[in-house]
Amino acid sequence: MKIVNAFVTLVVVLLAVSGAIQAVTLEVTDGNSTCIKAELSAVFSITYNASNSTRTALVTLPDSASVDPGSSSCGSAGSSPWLVAVFGSGHALGLSFTSNGSVYSVTNLTLQYNLSDATVFPEANSSDVVTVVSASVGIWAPVNSTYRCLSSATFRLDTANLTFSNMRLQAYMSGNDLSPNESVCLADQTTTPAPPRPTPSTTPVPVPTPAGPPERGFYNVTQNNTVCLLAHMGLQLNVTYTDTQNKTVQDVMNINPDHTSSSGSCEANSASLVLTQEQSTILTFNFTLNSTSKRYHLSGVSLVANWPDLPANFSAGNSSLNYLRSSFGHSYMCNAEQTLVVLPTFSINTFKLQVQPFGVTTTQFASAEECQIDQDQMLIPIIVGAALSGLVLIVLIAYLIGRKRSHAGYQTI
Ligand SMILES: *[C@@H]1O[C@H](CO)[C@@H](O)[C@H](O)[C@H]1NC(C)=O
Ligand SMILES: *[C@@H]1O[C@H](CO)[C@@H](O)[C@H](O)[C@H]1NC(C)=O
Ligand SMILES: *[C@@H]1O[C@H](CO)[C@@H](O)[C@H](O)[C@H]1NC(C)=O
Ligand SMILES: *[C@@H]1O[C@H](CO)[C@@H](O)[C@H](O)[C@H]1NC(C)=O
Ligand SMILES: *[C@@H]1O[C@H](CO)[C@@H](O)[C@H](O)[C@H]1NC(C)=O
Ligand SMILES: *[C@@H]1O[C@H](CO)[C@@H](O)[C@H](O)[C@H]1NC(C)=O
Ligand SMILES: *[C@@H]1O[C@H](CO)[C@@H](O)[C@H](O)[C@H]1NC(C)=O
Ligand SMILES: *[C@@H]1O[C@H](CO)[C@@H](O)[C@H](O)[C@H]1NC(C)=O
Ligand SMILES: *[C@@H]1O[C@H](CO)[C@@H](O)[C@H](O)[C@H]1NC(C)=O
Ligand SMILES: *[C@@H]1O[C@H](CO)[C@@H](O)[C@H](O)[C@H]1NC(C)=O
Ligand SMILES: *[C@@H]1O[C@H](CO)[C@@H](O)[C@H](O)[C@H]1NC(C)=O
Ligand SMILES: *[C@@H]1O[C@H](CO)[C@@H](O)[C@H](O)[C@H]1NC(C)=O
Repeated sequence: MKIVNAFVTLVVVLLAVSGAIQAVTLEVTDGNSTCIKAELSAVFSITYNASNSTRTALVTLPDSASVDPGSSSCGSAGSSPWLVAVFGSGHALGLSFTSNGSVYSVTNLTLQYNLSDATVFPEANSSDVVTVVSASVGIWAPVNSTYRCLSSATFRLDTANLTFSNMRLQAYMSGNDLSPNESVCLADQTTTPAPPRPTPSTTPVPVPTPAGPPERGFYNVTQNNTVCLLAHMGLQLNVTYTDTQNKTVQDVMNINPDHTSSSGSCEANSASLVLTQEQSTILTFNFTLNSTSKRYHLSGVSLVANWPDLPANFSAGNSSLNYLRSSFGHSYMCNAEQTLVVLPTFSINTFKLQVQPFGVTTTQFASAEECQIDQDQMLIPIIVGAALSGLVLIVLIAYLIGRKRSHAGYQTI
């Protein structure tokens, strides 16, 4: 079991692609030709005034974000190319480009957010639509090449911080697809897939918040007024980070079901469950179904957190996981505690877990396939039982033989 765990960890480390939040593809077209194309993940952390305090909202650019054809443009003599993606109720992200013929760059980033959206900005004491801008972004690449930056990069836009990751983008395109010619950002050139953390100056500090076992929550995803994903579990997040004193700190945090809302999506071969805890934690689970083998598994997990003790937003994910394997038409169950290693710096402990991401037909779980640990634990009483009944049988046989022998004994005498 230990060896298997170590192997899984190793595979995860090898496959880990940093910061996979939710890659969104955006395209600006003019007639049939594409002039700007971007694949990226974006997370915003926005500070706003609530009734009597200042709060921070965390927003991920959702899959449903779409290019606004009205504001976006491929550029003309008087205007520069502009990509504007709209999402939610009145929120928008804009990237404006310029080129001198040999190099193109992002001139500015704009973020528009709507404080009336109470799901994102609870208790905001304003209902304004706010626009913030960042100039001198430093994203540039030679014309006819794709700018690639898988590492995350954060930009300050007045009241908001914008973090991009898994980014591939090109403007002034000559074809309709991203050029295979990539211009790799500095951060990607200097980091290997699993960047080693800076060596701590002191020994690791023990867990600051002894969490205790988490409460079990019932979560579901509804699409078209029909429940399409079910989950019942206790979750504990384990995050390792370097604090401002360069100390390595472990933060163990329980998900509290009472303060957590669930959302997500259900497609034919993929499903996601997004748990949002009070604007401070966004935890996403992605499940994948192999339609040939009719088996599914947990393929990706990502986390964005802005807990008070974290020096900066923690954002991490991995989209090449292979946990919670089960078959279509069944749920997956594991009563024993399980640790899902997402990255060396981020793992999830699950307690009394049952999930069904596909083939949900009622609000009840379908019959469960249990994890190996549960089966092994169930095996112990069976083995003990079998051993006991074996012992009883042996005693019985010995007694019978003994009785026969003694009978025979009497007769010979
Ligand atoms: C776009 O492509 C379609 C078919 O390929 C063609 O009929 C149409 O004229 C094209 N439109 C433009 C603006 O090039
Ligand atoms: C919050 O309100 C104060 C006072 O009105 C203002 O100075 C500040 O800019 C506001 N902060 C944000 C993030 O809107
Ligand atoms: C909003 O909150 C800030 C700080 O909490 C306060 O200064 C400001 O007056 C409030 N604005 C309104 C319109 O209530
Ligand atoms: C904020 O306002 C609520 C009631 O609106 C009050 O109960 C609470 O004590 C206030 N908090 C602070 C820090 O003033
Ligand atoms: C802002 O959000 C509110 C509430 O969700 C909505 O009614 C309004 O239309 C939005 N404003 C814009 C500009 O989209
Ligand atoms: C375009 O800008 C780049 C970077 O600023 C510079 O190296 C290059 O010489 C410029 N090319 C032209 C044609 O001006
Ligand atoms: C980019 O590619 C197009 C088409 O292949 C070509 O016409 C153009 O000269 C190239 N531009 C540069 C700066 O290499
Ligand atoms: C962003 O840059 C473009 C092109 O340089 C410029 O036209 C636009 O006014 C800028 N937007 C803001 C909000 O500064
Ligand atoms: C933290 O460690 C890094 C690399 O080891 C070093 O460059 C940096 O100066 C240290 N910062 C502090 C505050 O000690
Ligand atoms: C959801 O409902 C809409 C309209 O009622 C329908 O067009 C769509 O196909 C439905 N989607 C699914 C996944 O059932
Ligand atoms: C948290 O993760 C660290 C490093 O992987 C591990 O040493 C520690 O035991 C974990 N703590 C819990 C409560 O799972
Ligand atoms: C789906 O399962 C089949 C049969 O087990 C396998 O051959 C195939 O590679 C799997 N597809 C994916 C995308 O994993």
